[in-house]
Amino acid sequence: MKTIGILTSGGDSPGMNAVIRAVVRTALSQDMKVYGINYGYEGLIEGKFQEMNISSVSDILHKGGTILKTARSERFPTEEGRQKAYGMIKTFGLDGMVIIGGDGSYRGGLMLSKMGLTVMCIPGTIDNDLGYTDYTIGFDTAVNTVLGAISNIRDTSSSHQRTSVIEVMGRNCGDIALYAGLTGGAESILVPEKPVDINAVCRKVVQGINRGKLHSIIVKAEGVDLGTQELADIIQERTGQETKIVVLGYVQRGGSPTARDRMLASKMGYKAARLLMYEPESKAIGISGGEIIAYNLEDALEMNREFDDTALEIVDILSK
Ligand code: F6P
Repeated sequence: MKTIGILTSGGDSPGMNAVIRAVVRTALSQDMKVYGINYGYEGLIEGKFQEMNISSVSDILHKGGTILKTARSERFPTEEGRQKAYGMIKTFGLDGMVIIGGDGSYRGGLMLSKMGLTVMCIPGTIDNDLGYTDYTIGFDTAVNTVLGAISNIRDTSSSHQRTSVIEVMGRNCGDIALYAGLTGGAESILVPEKPVDINAVCRKVVQGINRGKLHSIIVKAEGVDLGTQELADIIQERTGQETKIVVLGYVQRGGSPTARDRMLASKMGYKAARLLMYEPESKAIGISGGEIIAYNLEDALEMNREFDDTALEIVDILSK
């Protein structure tokens, strides 16, 4: 019988629970023993292990957050922290581990892999910022949450004839802004991947006012190198239209995962547990062209994300 561990690390994302469920139930169906490790790499260092059975993951598929809890560990990147963690891995007899998180969590996974453990990394982050996979788990839910917020803000912006600047998460990746902005009918979208053209943003607002538009929506990713309030002040000063900001913040990280995220989570969790059983070599699980893939872990971290320029061009044309 093989023994595996599973942990979630870094910022939580909707769908992490669905992954935990898929990994635990697939592993149990292969007669593996599974330990859930609480609080990510911190819990690994401290030995916060609990054996999981089929009921440990009951009724969690639809829940946001992570039943295993999460943390950003400052100790794990140190040699001492890592050695302690590896000691726990030996103590509990782990043959392999599933790590759910973003690029920081993957780097931790790679370190463990280099120490001799087989690691399967699964992309659980709302940011969609991993280059080797088309989508990360939680991104779709976050986009839909932002979309709902845009619709609400549109109603009140229109009633008051205001411009609204909506700041969204994503760290250095503009995908949440791009997808939610495009589908929410934003006039302009500002992302870290592109330089800010403040003239173009203001021009759009003025042209809108001139043709009778009652409001403008500007979606700005948090990673853009211009403050949200600063941007709003410039727009208000130049266009004369009252401009308000909304920083959506952590509301984007919670909530019940969408069907799309649950599907990704279930398929990736299944794949990871099966690989641990039958092809134990460290991998980054992802999706590419609709297929679930298992990519070389080290290479996965080297891949840069390609930004969808066409989507931004579409926004420019459709929001005229
Ligand atoms: O990586 C997910 C994310 O929500 C980013 O979009 C954001 O920049 C960051 O985490 C916030 O991190 P924290 O929870 O530490 O404030």
